[in-house]
Amino acid sequence: MPTSLPVLVAGAINTDLVATMSSAPGPGETITATTFAIHAGGKGANQAVAAARSGTKVTMVGAIGEDDFGTARLRDLEREGIETTWVRRSSTAASGVALILVEDHGENRIAYVPGATTTIGSDHCVRALQAVRPGIVLATNELPQKSLGALFAEARRLGATVILNATPDPERAVELLGLVDIVIVNAGEAARILAAGDDAGDDLEPHGAIEAVRAFGPGTVIITLGADGVVGNERDTAFAHPAPAVPVVDTTGAGDTFCGAFAASLGSESSISEAARYGVLASALSVTRAGAQAGIPTRQQVTMFAEGL
Ligand code: RIB
Repeated sequence: MPTSLPVLVAGAINTDLVATMSSAPGPGETITATTFAIHAGGKGANQAVAAARSGTKVTMVGAIGEDDFGTARLRDLEREGIETTWVRRSSTAASGVALILVEDHGENRIAYVPGATTTIGSDHCVRALQAVRPGIVLATNELPQKSLGALFAEARRLGATVILNATPDPERAVELLGLVDIVIVNAGEAARILAAGDDAGDDLEPHGAIEAVRAFGPGTVIITLGADGVVGNERDTAFAHPAPAVPVVDTTGAGDTFCGAFAASLGSESSISEAARYGVLASALSVTRAGAQAGIPTRQQVTMFAEGL
């Protein structure tokens, strides 16, 4: 039985069409790729799976189309024990799809078509929150801006902790940050938020960027640094958690794994810093396997990995 605070995750549910290759083609170039695979993906769904595998009760808010990809993704979420009552099926939009190129060293390039995710309205988000009453709301920028605003305002009213992984299009987060408790971004996204907010943040080192983004409202800012782990703050104390070295197969979904595992850990009475450390370990394990969701570890796997370090 889960012992942590229930988490409501709002974001995209995609099908990832993944080709692997030695190096991605440049403009106008055709290259011969090595493998092709279809995986479950979507930042929202990946984060929901990461939180569920870390042992917390998860409700997904998202949308899919009336197509085979949507049906398959819904079954995947249900298999993880994720509550899907608030995943709506659109009769007009197709399920979200991402075209992903993965290079041999694990780096990826992604083009994402949101499809049905754009049909999630404010009412749907507010009704889901009122029905579920989560302790934690974890969202990405994948939902329409207005719906995210309504989701966060209602979450605040109900006393839930709001975590925003401000991607894709981090500029969109500027208007929302006043309603967010914890924002999670990579270094490039932090700089784009600061530039959009008229703060020249491009050349700030990570701790400077954290303080600059905090000025927009969130009490905590966590910056993910890929293979270097994360830096962040807990009230006025900075923390840094380097990532352990692992053999990298596919980095797709590594940030999502961090966010979902972090949210689940935060809800089981960890401090923000401890939860971030747990998220780093889960994320490191996730890159050792292909596919966004296939490599997401369970709490038991993370614990065993930590013991072996
Ligand atoms: O963060 C990785 C995810 O982003 C993929 O699963 C893909 O669906 C894209 O949207």
